[in-house]
Amino acid sequence: MDAVYDEIADWYEYEFLGPQDVRAADPLEIDHCLRTLLGPGAGTCLEIGCGTGVHAATVRELGWIPAGIDISAGMLRHARGRLAAIRADARRLPFRDASLPAVICVMAHTDMPGYPAVLREAARVLRPGGVLAHIGVHPCFCGGFADRGDPGAVVIRAGYLDGHWTKASWTDQGVRDKVGATHFPLPSLLNAFLDAGLVLERFAEGGEPVPVVLGVRARKPTDEYRATAPS
Ligand SMILES: C[S@@+](CC[C@H](N)C(=O)[O-])C[C@H]1O[C@@H](n2cnc3c(N)ncnc32)[C@H](O)[C@@H]1O
Repeated sequence: MDAVYDEIADWYEYEFLGPQDVRAADPLEIDHCLRTLLGPGAGTCLEIGCGTGVHAATVRELGWIPAGIDISAGMLRHARGRLAAIRADARRLPFRDASLPAVICVMAHTDMPGYPAVLREAARVLRPGGVLAHIGVHPCFCGGFADRGDPGAVVIRAGYLDGHWTKASWTDQGVRDKVGATHFPLPSLLNAFLDAGLVLERFAEGGEPVPVVLGVRARKPTDEYRATAPS
């Protein structure tokens, strides 16, 4: 398994995520989007690409039992004590069909060039009626084509329209310049939820003055929904 995050796991945990007070301030509103889109519930909530398990406390606060999978043993080392997590590939989730009430994927879709297949896997393991909360870098305002060096004037260059992988970044303090990232233009991203058979339910954005984060809540339809939904 290709685990590029092994190389940067300590940097990610101690420097990128920063100390507890910085995380708690939630400057990109990632936690806010997660709370809004996942909402309260009970039973297991699986985080795909859980990394160091930084969202487990919020998931638990919302009433769920957090669980995680990640491809990087280095990242999972930091997740110990935060949630039950195992090493696995998001493209082959080690869970039975229709076995989970909730799945989340937070700030990880750009690390997964096969994200449409990951969403199909998420849909497979979700129970009918189960919720999927996706929170990721905003496809319109973040990427190799976006220069965020001046927060008051984000510059969007050519490149948005191509799905591509790049290490190009306006900063050397981020993840993309270290491990690279895949860009999904907005329609490709949203269509991937629909192609996985999920129903789009709510959206959220986070970060100011130009959003850094886009969140999506989708749901696996029940048989009753399928029977009555317009085709
Ligand atoms: C930017 S980190 C996000 C971690 C965590 N969700 C957070 O918000 O801090 C992306 C994570 O996705 C994981 N990842 C990338 N590709 C994966 C795959 N195919 N299967 C499982 N995890 C994967 C990486 O190892 C990394 O831990």
